[in-house]
Amino acid sequence: MSGPNTNFDPVEVAALDPQVIDDAVTAALDAVARAVSLDELKALRSAHSGDRSALALANREIGALPPSAKAEAGKRVGQARGRVNQAFVARQGELEAERDERILTEEAVDVTLPTGRRPLGRRHPIELMSQRIADLFVGLGWEIAEGPEIEAEWFNFDALNFDADHPARQMQDTFYVDPPDGGLVLRTHTSPVQARTLLDRGVPVYIAAIGRVFRTDELDATHMPAFHQVEGLAVDEGITMAHLKGTLDRLATELFGDGISTRLRPSFFPFTEPSAEIDLRCFVCRGEDPDCRTCKGTGWIEWGGCGMVNRNVLTACGVDPDRFTGFAFGMGIDRALMFRTGVSDMRDMIEGDVRFDAQFGLEI
Ligand code: PHE
Repeated sequence: MSGPNTNFDPVEVAALDPQVIDDAVTAALDAVARAVSLDELKALRSAHSGDRSALALANREIGALPPSAKAEAGKRVGQARGRVNQAFVARQGELEAERDERILTEEAVDVTLPTGRRPLGRRHPIELMSQRIADLFVGLGWEIAEGPEIEAEWFNFDALNFDADHPARQMQDTFYVDPPDGGLVLRTHTSPVQARTLLDRGVPVYIAAIGRVFRTDELDATHMPAFHQVEGLAVDEGITMAHLKGTLDRLATELFGDGISTRLRPSFFPFTEPSAEIDLRCFVCRGEDPDCRTCKGTGWIEWGGCGMVNRNVLTACGVDPDRFTGFAFGMGIDRALMFRTGVSDMRDMIEGDVRFDAQFGLEI
């Protein structure tokens, strides 16, 4: 409060001096007009109309005036404060509109601009499918076994009961490693891992072997000189073909969905007796569409080979065939991936085009 109001004239009270009030209003309006940002305006607002501003001070002084002077002083201060407040509100509206306008232009996204993001790498779909198969067998309590890609001829053929002049040796067109009589081949299937495992680990044994195999096939839409197989081997007391069938059905369900089972067709492999071809229930039409393109209307898709491990193989690997029996199976992973994804040309799988991996490599 200012000094005593001896003559009760509001004009005598310094804070209520019309000039002081007019100056305060002018200063406020000037400042408001010059404010260029909402932050600045906010700061000005407390300086020009906050509790410590000249106008707030004048307002407080009114209370000390005699009743006769209050009305006029009140009107003057009230109008002054009203003008200042209106100016703030108006400027605030302008600045907000400017800000919104600016955000709209500054934050506009040009969706046609080229992106600077590098595409993420992906694991190859064959790798993913291999891991999925490995996970299934580990889940069943089996172990994962490995063998070399450059394999002794003895493991690839002899231990598996192929006679020296057995036609199957030609049937599986083999890459021989130089020198040709050195006894080394690029393995033509994953079955030599059977013999290696029986010798290494003894029985009982439950293993899956996943890996690359080689045959002298020309590269075309359905053949590759290097491809992938999964091999299963279970040798224990009392193993029967029923166990084999159950395991194959489990694998089929895991990879192709519920209700997809397998069928066995009599066949021949030197290392299994009896032997069978494995057919997979067509997972597209489930045998119900005579025009199905995936199974060509047969309801079944050829998938691999299997059988009960031949006694001669067990004997060659030091296992007593009168006490132990076992089953084995082997199938192509690339082939499975091919019909699972609908890829019609196997070459797409090995050409290394990242767009292929991006499309099929996302699967977990
Ligand atoms: N190794 C055989 C092949 O590549 C498949 C097979 C594996 C058959 C195990 C029977 C038992 O054709």
